[in-house]
This record gives sequence, structure tokens and C-alpha cells, in this order.
Amino acid sequence: MLPPPSTISRREFTLGAISDNHLLLFSRRAFTMFSRRAFTMFSGRAVTMFCCKGMYYSGCVQIFFEQITFFFIFAAMKQTLQYIKNQLSVGAKNFSPLQRDEIQTLSYLILQFVCKKDKCALLRDKDTQLSANEVAEIEKIVGELKKNRPIQYILGETEFYGLKLAVDENVLIPRPETEELVDLILQGRKERGAGSRILDIATGSGCIAIALAKKMPDAAVYALDISEKALEVARQNAATNHVNVHFFQQDVLSSAPYTPHLTPCSFDTIVSNPPYIPLSEKGDMHANVLDYEPHEALFVPENEPLLFYERIADISRNLFCPYGQLFFEINARFGEEIVQMLCEKGYSDIQIIQDISKQNRFIQALWKKQ
Ligand SMILES: C[S@@+](CC[C@H](N)C(=O)[O-])C[C@H]1O[C@@H](n2cnc3c(N)ncnc32)[C@H](O)[C@@H]1O
Repeated sequence: MLPPPSTISRREFTLGAISDNHLLLFSRRAFTMFSRRAFTMFSGRAVTMFCCKGMYYSGCVQIFFEQITFFFIFAAMKQTLQYIKNQLSVGAKNFSPLQRDEIQTLSYLILQFVCKKDKCALLRDKDTQLSANEVAEIEKIVGELKKNRPIQYILGETEFYGLKLAVDENVLIPRPETEELVDLILQGRKERGAGSRILDIATGSGCIAIALAKKMPDAAVYALDISEKALEVARQNAATNHVNVHFFQQDVLSSAPYTPHLTPCSFDTIVSNPPYIPLSEKGDMHANVLDYEPHEALFVPENEPLLFYERIADISRNLFCPYGQLFFEINARFGEEIVQMLCEKGYSDIQIIQDISKQNRFIQALWKKQ
């Protein structure tokens, strides 16, 4: 009879190793010893690592276990929501944890997009299990967010003035301030009756032109951009929102700006949100803007911050017929300089208007042919 494994001596081990039973016992013992040793080494190292790197490693381990739990045990709506929130609240390489309210908004946005449900339905169905595809998609979106890619590009869409617009890396993501610019134009139409022939210069995703066309179905809306790829996105957006906008490719800085669409005396309202960030401000910008949004849409040469405004003010004088309203979105730093430039070019009733965050953000001016 073989003694029980716990009591067999090392000598007996070696000597008895020739019989089958002893061989079995030997290998069992060896395995136990090996695994104990490995465990001791591993846990020793792990403890050292934990002590050395403290929070960082414990954070990683927490996320690792959460991820395993998320995939294999809980994939119900409410745990998924918590999973997204936890992921976005922990920093990683080149990724800073987000603010609480930002995390809350993003978490619901992701779930709404993936599960194709509105917020009420998500709250109501909080115990519903997600499918494997939905879980994988959420994981992919969270991974992209942690590389600082803007959520609008990840989802391929955004909302502007109550409209759903497609966006990709060829167009600037429309900003909420620009919705206020649309409001100003609508208000101008009410007060002064203009807005039957509108031109949007540097249209990007087409957000301004499309919102105006939606709100003024009787207006003729034209929009130009230098980027053919941006115009493709804009045309798609006009189609999905069922509006008619005449998009065309044009370099507004070119020395011959007149095309069949841009004939003298053809517009009563011209609007533009052109590139307006001097290159020196690049350093103050967030990685999610710098690494993903088109630089052609953002920057102007350091020594020519008014480049686009001057050009647009010049050509607009000929495009107005004979009276017109000009609307600009501006860099708060250059408001006074733009006012002076417009004054020198013969515009009147020039006003700087603040946005909702009390920044000088828009300029409106009138042109009357003398
Ligand atoms: C700040 S983005 C504005 C986009 C959109 N209007 C908005 O408000 O979201 C500026 C746009 O100007 C376009 N652009 C840059 N240089 C241009 C040029 N020389 N002529 C016409 N458009 C230009 C860019 O392609 C970009 O779409």
C-alpha cells in the first residue's frame, strides 16, 4: 500500500519512482510543489509590483477583472452602463479620465446608439441582456474613445439644430455655438425680411446651410467649400434631411472667385464660419481636435488671422443685390479687428454678438450699395 501523498518522504519518492503507482504519486507531488513555488513567486512579484506601482496596477487589475466579468457574466444593460462609466473614468496612456457629466452623457449616447433605443427605453429595459455583437461594439467604441477619437466620428453622426448629420474626418464636427449663428440669421430674417437667397461659405458638413434650408423652405440656399470630400458629406446630409441645397466646390481665396453660382448681385444673406485659429494656438488645443479634425478647417497662417474674413467681406460686396446681411462666426480674440476691417470696407450696423458662454463669437453687418 502506498502511503498517503502528504506523508511520503523525499527518499521514498525517489526510490519508489520506478513503480507505476509511485510514478503517479511522484508526478502529483512534483506538480503540487511546482505550482506552489510558481504561485509563491508570482504572488511575491505581484505584491512587489502592487507596492511599487500602487494605484496604477490595481486600476489595471480592476479593469481586467471588470472586463472579464462584463464579457462572461454580466452583460445586462445596467452593468454595461456601469462598465462604460468605469472605463471612461480611469486614465490610460494619452487618455485623461473624463468629467462626471461628460461620462454620463457619453455612456447613454453609446448605449442608445448600439442598442437603438432612446434613454427612456434603456432605463426601462435595464435588466435586458445585450447580444454578443452589441457587447463587442461597445467594447470597440470605448477603445476608440480611449484613443481620444471624438465620439461623433466614432458613431459617424452628430446632432445639429435638431437634425441628424453624418460626420467623418473630412469635416469639422459642428459646434453648439454655430447653432446660435443659425438663430441669428433666422432672427435677422424676421426683423429685416432678408434670407431668400443665402450663401454659406466654407460649409463643411453643410450644417448651417442645411439648418437654414430646413427652417426656410422657400429660400434658395447655396453652399461652397474647398474640399470635395467635405462636400460629399454635406450632399449626403442634405439628402437625408430632405432639403435642397446647391453645393459646389470653390476656393474662396482664389483670385477668380466668380463661378456660375457666384454671379454679382445674387444673394441677400451671406454667412461663414471659416478657419480662424492662428497656428500659435495649436498648443492649447485638445488631442481629440488636433489628432482627428481636418487642419484645413481649423487653422490660418499666424500672421494673417483675418485672411478669410477680409476675402469674404470683399467678394460679398459684389454678391449682394444691392442690399445684404453678412454673418460671421469669429475667434473671440479678433472681434474688434474684424469690426474695423468691415467698417473700412463700407459695411454698416456692425455688431459683435456674444454666445451663450459670454464670448464674443459672432459678427453681423449690413451692406447697402451706395
Ligand atoms: C471651421 S470649418 C466650418 C465648417 C462648417 N461651416 C461648420 O460651421 O461646422 C471651415 C471650412 O472651411 C473650408 N475651407 C478651408 N479653406 C477654404 C477655402 N480656401 N475655400 C473654401 N473653403 C475652405 C474647410 O474645408 C472647412 O470645411
